[in-house]
Amino acid sequence: MPVVVVESPAKAKTINSYLGSDYTVLASYGHVRDLPPKDGSVDPENGFDMTWEVAAASKKHVKAIADALKTHGLEPDQIKFELFSESQQGRLAKQEMAKRSEGQAQTQVTVKIDGAQHSFTMAKGQSVLDAALENNLDAPFACKAGVCSTCMCKVTEGEVEMLSNHALEDYEVERGYRLSCQSYPLSDTLFIDYDHH
Ligand code: FES
Repeated sequence: MPVVVVESPAKAKTINSYLGSDYTVLASYGHVRDLPPKDGSVDPENGFDMTWEVAAASKKHVKAIADALKTHGLEPDQIKFELFSESQQGRLAKQEMAKRSEGQAQTQVTVKIDGAQHSFTMAKGQSVLDAALENNLDAPFACKAGVCSTCMCKVTEGEVEMLSNHALEDYEVERGYRLSCQSYPLSDTLFIDYDHH
């Protein structure tokens, strides 16, 4: 039985419904390898050598994928995948954002995706993408590091702070486009449009 691995749990479910029960479709829940959140994960004395580890939350997903691949008899050199990793700077900025928003009121968000609107509240210390995924929306993403632009959306109401942007041009930002994986609410209400391209 073929095994398909995608990042998003919502996508895994949808793709499995298309492919049928002859396929095993599993989600990695985003990138699985990261720098450990402590001093010493980057060694500036040694050519900025980095220590990578599979994040604790990702271990169970990686195990499920490895078990499925083993069950289906794949050899190690048949298993190829792409890993994106967030920089230490990006992670620190997100930690800072979470700290800043502690105790603050939540934001009321409406997300438009695939022609339908969904409303929910989210913490100001959470990214728009993570909040959408948590609410079982099939929001697009790949790197979660501000690099690929897969998660691009348009903010048509309210304001977000984009922590990192290596993908959008200035004119796109001026038109209201944002990378949802890097966008944190500043306003009490938001309207996020994933359909607006
Ligand atoms: S998922 Fe790649 S830039 Fe957001």
